[in-house]
Amino acid sequence: MNDVVTNRSNPLVLGIETSCDETGIGIVRGSTLLSNTIASSMDEHARYGGVVPEVAARAHLEEMVPALNQAVAEAGISLNDIDAIAVTTGPGLSGALMVGVGAAKALAVALDKPIYAVNHLVGHVGADILDPSGTPFEYPTIALLVSGGHTSLLLVRDLVSDVELLGETIDDAAGEAFDKVARILGLPYPGGPQIDRVAAAGDPNAIRFPRGLSRPKDMEKHRYDFSFSGLKTAVARWVEQKQDAGLDVPVADVAAGFREAVADVLITKALAACADHGVPRLLLGGGVVANARVRELAAERAEKAGVALRIPPLSLCTDNGAMIAELGAQLIMAGHAPSTLDFSADSTLPVTDIQVR
Ligand code: KG4
Ligand code: ZN
Repeated sequence: MNDVVTNRSNPLVLGIETSCDETGIGIVRGSTLLSNTIASSMDEHARYGGVVPEVAARAHLEEMVPALNQAVAEAGISLNDIDAIAVTTGPGLSGALMVGVGAAKALAVALDKPIYAVNHLVGHVGADILDPSGTPFEYPTIALLVSGGHTSLLLVRDLVSDVELLGETIDDAAGEAFDKVARILGLPYPGGPQIDRVAAAGDPNAIRFPRGLSRPKDMEKHRYDFSFSGLKTAVARWVEQKQDAGLDVPVADVAAGFREAVADVLITKALAACADHGVPRLLLGGGVVANARVRELAAERAEKAGVALRIPPLSLCTDNGAMIAELGAQLIMAGHAPSTLDFSADSTLPVTDIQVR
């Protein structure tokens, strides 16, 4: 495998992402997006109410080559043109990650190209660089990443060299909570979009659900951490009590109250991080960013706090290969050497490990 990047100033990078249920292949040139192919196995998980790791891994195997071919065709390049390959090495589902890592290594060897093993969460932060309407990205920034698999609050001083984990969920991820509460309300998977739709007709103040880790005592110890499992249980109890009493469940109000609790706690903690660290910038990422109330509350409160809010287009917020390619490109442009072939998938890779050598 070649370990020299020939074009360091404007590299053509192919990114492979398989940490969860999206097989993502993205191609970038420098900071420009050329293609972003995503094949999701979401439908196959629907009847289980959540992502099943083995099903996701098998789907990645099936989707890898078609997605690769599509991304290359859409970018209008040939595989031999690329300067480097970037791949998500963690965190994520082990079996799913292994498929992407295996494919990336095989490509690197077959094409004789350098490889960059990169961090999925930091990839989410890098996605914003590809926003065609965006002004140049500035650091430091606080980043709030919320999806079905993660809820993390980061302080990013420099994308390729200095990312600090401020806090994360101590139980369920925010998206997971949406999926579980949807199930309680009899709504299909994935629950986030369903709850969002139903909540639009509800009163967010009709029922006040608990805000996890937000009491003064919790804010001392878990200032930037999240907890959604108590909230999910509170919703379940509330619904059960109505049902036991033979009453109708006001689904729209429950959805609206739940959505409000999640949005409130996410944005409150993210803006507290901005204030505490004197960082007037907040970047959002992950599938839950599609949530109408999360977006609305973020915009409202960020403006009041004098914080610049960045939300990349949704196709770059959810898991995708382009963000991985872009993190690879940024590492190359900053002069970082490629990884060796010794790395392996690491399901618990810490966010401070931006690249695994
Ligand atoms: O980033 P993503 O596409 O995949 C991973 O989890 O890695 O995020 C999917 C998650 C699911 O839990 C889904 O329910 C949630 O994002 N989601 C939403 C909305 N759209 C998707 N949650 C709340 N409101 C939405 N509109
Ligand atoms: Zn993700």
